[in-house]
Amino acid sequence: MTVFTSSLNLSSEQHKGNRVRNEGLVSELRDRIKQVHSGGSSAAVALHRKRGKLLAQERIAALLDPGSFWLDLSPLAAWDLYDSQVPAAGLVTGIGFISGRPCVIVANDATVKGGTYFPLTIKKHLRAQDIALQNGLPAIYLVDSGGIFLPKQAEVFADKDDFGRIFYNQARMSALGIPQIAVVMGMCTAGGAYVPAMCDENIIVKGTGTIYLAGPPLVKAATGENVTAEALGGADLHTRVSGVSDYLAENDQEALELCRTLVSNLGKPFQVPTRDGKTEDPLYPATDLYSLIPSSARQPFEVREIIARLVDGSRFQEFKARYGTTLVCGFARWMGHSVGIVANNGVLFSESALKGAHFVQMCSQRRIPLIFLQNIPGFMVGKKHEEQGIIKAGSKMVQTVATARVPKFTLIIGASHGAGNYAMCGRGYNPRFLFTWPNARTSVMGGQQAAQVLVSVKQEQLAKQGRTLSAEEVHKQTESTLAQYEQESSAYYSTAHLWDDGILDPAETRKVLGFCLDVAYKPMRGEARLPIFRW
Ligand code: COA
Repeated sequence: MTVFTSSLNLSSEQHKGNRVRNEGLVSELRDRIKQVHSGGSSAAVALHRKRGKLLAQERIAALLDPGSFWLDLSPLAAWDLYDSQVPAAGLVTGIGFISGRPCVIVANDATVKGGTYFPLTIKKHLRAQDIALQNGLPAIYLVDSGGIFLPKQAEVFADKDDFGRIFYNQARMSALGIPQIAVVMGMCTAGGAYVPAMCDENIIVKGTGTIYLAGPPLVKAATGENVTAEALGGADLHTRVSGVSDYLAENDQEALELCRTLVSNLGKPFQVPTRDGKTEDPLYPATDLYSLIPSSARQPFEVREIIARLVDGSRFQEFKARYGTTLVCGFARWMGHSVGIVANNGVLFSESALKGAHFVQMCSQRRIPLIFLQNIPGFMVGKKHEEQGIIKAGSKMVQTVATARVPKFTLIIGASHGAGNYAMCGRGYNPRFLFTWPNARTSVMGGQQAAQVLVSVKQEQLAKQGRTLSAEEVHKQTESTLAQYEQESSAYYSTAHLWDDGILDPAETRKVLGFCLDVAYKPMRGEARLPIFRW
């Protein structure tokens, strides 16, 4: 394979300016992640500890193999939303190794509004289950939750992707042979009681873990019965009398140790991913990426320079390098895995879309995973391009991306606008994982174009009434659209709404995606069987 040779001088003023800006963005990202990792208020954390419970982050650390990598998914979900009262959407999710096996972990943070489910908490929980399902990874639930956040019940209860979907997913995954394990480390009430009950196996912690359809106050109100939480749904009752739980643990630590043992008894995974060869570092340091990403989102950049900092040995076998040049396609190895890379180098034209469709089909046939590097202002517009049938070309690319039978991974490294987001495997195209960089901008079009479109629509409306927009009105409308797009297209807005699986430090991208390639088991074949029933 061809080794990429960079001809850039990264000590130029422009590249130095880029580095300062991008290092600033990464430092802001780290601060924000640190902030949400501390969970709820200090009073809630103190109360949690007083009850002898470990915090969600501590539980995960105790469950994972010592020193192993933990991929924290969407840590900034709900960022700046719900009056900033729900850090990480009150739920920690991610992938890590337990007893040598990669698992998805879903852990409620009871220090955040009692671990209750806001709309984005559910979205984050469902996304973690989706990752477990797509990649065939066991799902481990560390439950400590007051259930639905009742003031928002209308937004979380009854629709397809609402609370009930969690249990539906558990049944479907169990039927497919994807293990489901719960550790009850706090409250599981009402619908939440089904999380452990629908698992293949569950552990409950004495004194703090409870499972019931209605807690003591509701039982009192409904039937007049006076009963303590422990007597109604504690560890002794459920492991000795009701059979709702399978194992009793004295405390959090013991429960997590036991969970590690349960994972070690899961048997062999159906398929294990294979690397094609040894990992080889790129020739150029990953921190060069800070110098390469332009300070302005509107400024284009050479994507081969980026690829050279990400792939093994900076080797890249480019496909059709002289044709459809605004899309760069080619084969590479990423930490030992063969991959096909599809990367933007400008606006998509018909030729670039056709080349992309061709390349995606080849990778799909050859079972080579695809990595999309999005920096896409959109498809080219204008009469000439419509005449050439750019929509036909674009739809071919969208069709092949939608139907490619290989794991797909998407990184938004710059702009992500218009149908370019779709053709380049945006969230709607089911990539196994989608990450953004802190400089990423995602919106239907750029703010400037949106402002111009809206002004011209208004002007045409008014012209029909014989009126015009004053310069001041044009200015006001333009500024308001620009401000809206500035906010809504930011990486933080995307990640807050779970449009991605997290914002990455560009220099960490190779490691994170290499881990994702390791755990992206091929889809399991065969008929769905029955889930494991709790008798
Ligand atoms: N909906 C909305 N808010 C809830 C809630 C719920 N279901 N359960 C708890 N909260 C909020 C509390 O109002 C409190 O908010 P604040 O921090 O703004 O004061 C916060 O969560 C912590 O609750 P608190 O009761 O002070 O903490 P706790 O650790 O002693 O108890 C629970 C936590 C979850 C065990 C307890 O609040 C509880 O039993 N909640 C009701 C659970 C329930 O019946 N859910 C049914 C939903 S299907």
